[in-house]
Amino acid sequence: MKYFCAMNTFSRILTDWYETNKRDLPWRDISDPYKIWVSEIILQQTRVGQGYGYYTHFVRRFPDVQALAQATEDEVMRYWQGLGYYTRARNMHQAAQSMNGKFPQTYQEVRALKGVGDYTAAAICASAFNMPYAAVDGNVYRVLARHFGIDKPIDSAEGKKLFTALAQELLDKRQPGTFNQAMMDFGATVCTPHRPHCEKCPLADTCEAVRQGLTDKLPVKRHQTKSTDRYFTYLYVMCGDRICIRKRTQNDIWKGLYELPLIESAHRLNENELTERPEFKLWLANGSLPRPQPLEMGVRHVLSHQIIHADFYALFLSEDTTSFRPFLRAERADLTRFAFPRLIQVFLERH
Ligand code: ADE
Repeated sequence: MKYFCAMNTFSRILTDWYETNKRDLPWRDISDPYKIWVSEIILQQTRVGQGYGYYTHFVRRFPDVQALAQATEDEVMRYWQGLGYYTRARNMHQAAQSMNGKFPQTYQEVRALKGVGDYTAAAICASAFNMPYAAVDGNVYRVLARHFGIDKPIDSAEGKKLFTALAQELLDKRQPGTFNQAMMDFGATVCTPHRPHCEKCPLADTCEAVRQGLTDKLPVKRHQTKSTDRYFTYLYVMCGDRICIRKRTQNDIWKGLYELPLIESAHRLNENELTERPEFKLWLANGSLPRPQPLEMGVRHVLSHQIIHADFYALFLSEDTTSFRPFLRAERADLTRFAFPRLIQVFLERH
């Protein structure tokens, strides 16, 4: 590979930089594969600043594979509440249950765990077992694309292969875990997506993107991720002092979390459209039609690939109503036993 000659210098400068600049994080300098796994799953789609608190809380309650395997899914989801990408938590819980009490010890077994891809398997095996695997995530693509001036799209099969091979070649095989962590910290704090800190970069002298003024242009992506708009009308149904909720079970966002009765539509519903919806009529068993009262309208909730436009209506029913039968009726004081998406949790805190 043509980048080979830069290898030793690159790795040495990077790991030297790391020794003096590394962030002091609770999953560093440990070799427990279980805890490293938890940290890597949390950090897959979460920034260190937010992930830190969740990590400490999570490993305190579930300190090892057995503790996680024995917990209920609802409890695991409560520990994940607010962190987003809830499939991560469900996969982790199922993976823990598949381990027979012991974290796997080979790359192949680790890679085969539910929710563990190439990146996470490499990060775990390098940090916990000192195995020579380069962990290649968005930070690594960015650092390498810029430093070596590579404009192959990072979301192409060819690009992935090239960047992975380059990272693998640059990897300091004597301390693979440290090298991977150094790449991550460097990408997160110096070679940042926007306005990188080239003025304090120890690798700027040999950086192609700096030389050619391309830091804004690299890395290259073929496809921009586009967002879909979704329109949710929630019903805050109170039967006496109980609130109707249900668990989301479909393969969709927030699977495994709880929510209020929801009607999804192709566009925003007005009040008349809402009361005409078949779900609404179906849920109201006894034919009497209390008017839904608008509570909060046009709440925007942005996810990575979706924008949720939510309207909330209140409905007051008597305690003995037979309406909204398919729903659980939870006492307000018990709501903390259920994990809700942030959108709902914040709503409930306000009402
Ligand atoms: N992002 C993903 N894994 C990480 C780690 N171990 N430390 C810091 N940031 C990360």
